[in-house]
Amino acid sequence: MSLQPIKIGLLGLGTVGGGTINLLRRNAEEIARRAGRGIVVISAAARDLDKTRTLSLEGIRLTGNAQDVVADPEVEIVCELIGGIEPARALVLAAIERGKHVVTANKALIALHGNEIFAAAQRKGVMVAFEAAVAGGIPIIKAIREGLSGNRIQTVAGIINGTCNYILTEMRERGADFQTVLAEAQRLGYAEADPSVDIDGVDAAHKLTILASIAFGIPLQFDKVYTEGIGRIGAMDIAYADELGYRIKSLGIARHAGDGIELRVHPTLIPKRHPIAGVEGVMNAVLVVGDAVGPTMFYGRGAGAEPTASAVVSDLVDVVRAMTSDPENRVPHLAFQPNAMSDITVKPMESVQTAYYLRMNAVDKPGVLANVTAILGKLGISIEAIIQKVPDPAANVVPVIFLTQRVQERNMNEAIHAIEALDSISGSVFRVRVEMLE
Ligand code: NDP
Ligand code: HSE
Repeated sequence: MSLQPIKIGLLGLGTVGGGTINLLRRNAEEIARRAGRGIVVISAAARDLDKTRTLSLEGIRLTGNAQDVVADPEVEIVCELIGGIEPARALVLAAIERGKHVVTANKALIALHGNEIFAAAQRKGVMVAFEAAVAGGIPIIKAIREGLSGNRIQTVAGIINGTCNYILTEMRERGADFQTVLAEAQRLGYAEADPSVDIDGVDAAHKLTILASIAFGIPLQFDKVYTEGIGRIGAMDIAYADELGYRIKSLGIARHAGDGIELRVHPTLIPKRHPIAGVEGVMNAVLVVGDAVGPTMFYGRGAGAEPTASAVVSDLVDVVRAMTSDPENRVPHLAFQPNAMSDITVKPMESVQTAYYLRMNAVDKPGVLANVTAILGKLGISIEAIIQKVPDPAANVVPVIFLTQRVQERNMNEAIHAIEALDSISGSVFRVRVEMLE
């Protein structure tokens, strides 16, 4: 290759930063053959320069001040792998202001500040690439933004948080305890710096915001995503779901419903026969349904050093290839031309329709089930299945599980409120939404 290598400034030397350095080195020749020139990291920033790192940092200038990397005149592409909002946002905007291209894995930053960042990048004629921000190593951004651009996309749904899927899988397969598995996910580098971001569904909501934007050509609207975490799913729910023929997965669902867009992240019962039900551990899978192509599914590792580095490096190669092209001829950041975004609204959760799994503790006396079914019937909610367990003599209550047919969330809220008010029901009703993903 006769051209000089492209010089990268790396912000962050953690799980993904380390994976990126290793991958760029190990596959340097392959990468240069694809990009048309070499790609080398010349400077990098971390918070604590005294930290012991197993990573070889030979030939890389190190600093504790990330702005030094952004300001380094030799750096042509800034790779932001710090995470969080600040200082990541300020650093990315500073890089853009200096006319540098940016590659980031930071879904929180893109979901919350992407509209501002892409507008700034467009003004300066630079690229901001973010493949690693969604579903780790799966090239889902490229697939939707480029591979499916002839389609009217109807649904994007899937497992987009590796930590949650790892926890739910280990709880079901090994009967492992939630906190123990979460600690394992942290040790393996899957979890966010604050793991409640994973558990509470916020990380998946960041990713869903991005997916919905590139699928439907709508602005990034993180605040409109209905978000529910996996913290209340217990071993008994996993077992009851299994008995009914379902698996519980944390799903992100973005659906074009004609009169609006559904955007929701929540634990979901899906039939065991659906391919997504078989996606286990840290693996992610995204189902994309287009009007022309029909259903397509993308599967791979959703977190971890090298799978994520795979996406970061492919963005670096893409940026290097497109650097000499005119900005107006590049793939738009959010798939659609910035002046052609749709203003279709995001539907409130109350008007979304799904089926439901309901678990409640009924006092063990005659007539209780009749009271519950009367409430459901009055609100037009049909019952698909009921499981009643053996009463616990000590507690004098019996767990009862209902599986309902599809109904508007508004009606289900009303039904749950009325059921909880019954004297014969102890405590609250626990609901998990059910999707067939047909
Ligand atoms: P880590 O916590 O492992 O690494 C973060 C790195 O950033 C560390 O090297 C840290 O320094 C450095 N850092 C933090 N603050 C500063 C600062 N102010 N200035 C300079 N350096 C700083 O995070 P990950 O590598 O796991 O994640 C990085 C990004 O990638 C996040 O946006 C995350 O959401 C995203 N991501 C992560 C995936 C994963 O599997 N881990 C998968 C997909 C995306 P020090 O080492 O000194 O503490
Ligand atoms: N914490 C994230 C996950 C990392 O578990 O999926 C990948 O985005």
